[in-house]
Amino acid sequence: MGYQILYLLLTIAVVTSKASPQSYEEIISQIMKESAEEEPTQNGTACPPMFSLIGGKCLYFASFVQQNQVACRQVCHSLEGELAAIRTATELQEIIREIKRRGLVEMGFWIDGTFDGKEHWNFSNTDLVPLGTPFWYAAEDNNPSPTNDPLLKCASINNESGFLMKDMDCEQHFSPLCEHEPASLDESEEDQEEEPDHLEAENISCPPFFVDISGNCIAFITWSEIPWIAAKQTCNAITSGAELLMTKDIELLRHLYNYFHEEGLDGHNFWIGATDVAEEGVWTYNGIKVDIEAPFWGNSITLGVMEPDGNDAENCLALTSAGQHYFRDKSCDEPYNPICTAKPLSL
Ligand SMILES: *[C@@H]1O[C@H](CO)[C@@H](O)[C@H](O)[C@H]1NC(C)=O
Ligand SMILES: *[C@@H]1O[C@H](CO)[C@@H](O)[C@H](O)[C@H]1NC(C)=O
Ligand SMILES: *[C@@H]1O[C@H](CO)[C@@H](O)[C@H](O)[C@H]1NC(C)=O
Ligand SMILES: *[C@@H]1O[C@H](CO)[C@@H](O)[C@H](O)[C@H]1NC(C)=O
Repeated sequence: MGYQILYLLLTIAVVTSKASPQSYEEIISQIMKESAEEEPTQNGTACPPMFSLIGGKCLYFASFVQQNQVACRQVCHSLEGELAAIRTATELQEIIREIKRRGLVEMGFWIDGTFDGKEHWNFSNTDLVPLGTPFWYAAEDNNPSPTNDPLLKCASINNESGFLMKDMDCEQHFSPLCEHEPASLDESEEDQEEEPDHLEAENISCPPFFVDISGNCIAFITWSEIPWIAAKQTCNAITSGAELLMTKDIELLRHLYNYFHEEGLDGHNFWIGATDVAEEGVWTYNGIKVDIEAPFWGNSITLGVMEPDGNDAENCLALTSAGQHYFRDKSCDEPYNPICTAKPLSL
């Protein structure tokens, strides 16, 4: 794979995207560096790619993502992890040390823990989050965190709180601090015994950030709001060979819609692969014609008219939140999140 080509793509992406907090060059070099790390522990376990062993946990500081809590959680899920659950004071101590060692002291991170609005702070597995000192932020104002303010429902650690835990508005933008179960270094035979019986139900394995959605490896790049051209380049930069998603499978559109709602991504607008920029009204994806077919496309604002309805002004294919994530033609300059697809990893 030509790194000069990758570099060129990244450079173009940097120029065309002003919305992202960091350049793609930095993001990709960070991803590549982190995926190279794999730190064995003393006792036969290792952290999966991207994750580092810190305080006995496999953690990943996805510092290039700045998003609300649900989007950050989905980023952890895309790595088969979860937001990091801080269960002991030593874990918090090790995490704060690592934040300082990595120079992330200006940042804030979403961690596992949400308030039910009445009395409980729960981890996502429903265990109770430890309260009080030395976990949560407390100033000398008799108003320590968590405040049980129903508007502050998500647990974070951030620079303003000295990286003690603080209850925040879940819509605030922080980075995901993800956790993964340590992986066993020994190829365990036991887990694989049943598989030969059900070859058709075999699960695929996807690259980092890609989730298996009905047998497709798909990534939701919620941390970049960029024009369509930059979105196309970003997919390839995230994983070599990845592309903006396109599908002729209506069941996949249904699975995507369900996933947006399950993962709280239904407020996002996404770019997918097709365009009619070359010839108005002829939608293509990598030179292949895309049918204007039901029930892929949504309704137009004008009663009785269906998408695509934007003529020359709208030449790129999007799944928009306001449009219930049907296919819609939108202006290619709109800042939306790319949806990428990649080949499964070979087993
Ligand atoms: C391996 O090390 C981890 C982290 O130190 C620890 O939590 C775990 O219990 C250890 N497992 C065994 C089998 O010793
Ligand atoms: C926290 O970081 C933000 C921006 O990242 C910065 O504006 C702010 O001054 C920092 N606050 C402290 C207390 O360091
Ligand atoms: C939170 O934890 C409490 C105590 O274990 C439990 O009763 C409650 O159902 C949990 N709530 C959620 C939303 O998980
Ligand atoms: C595939 O993954 C799903 C969800 O993780 C799991 O329930 C199922 O048992 C897996 N199937 C196989 C054949 O491993």
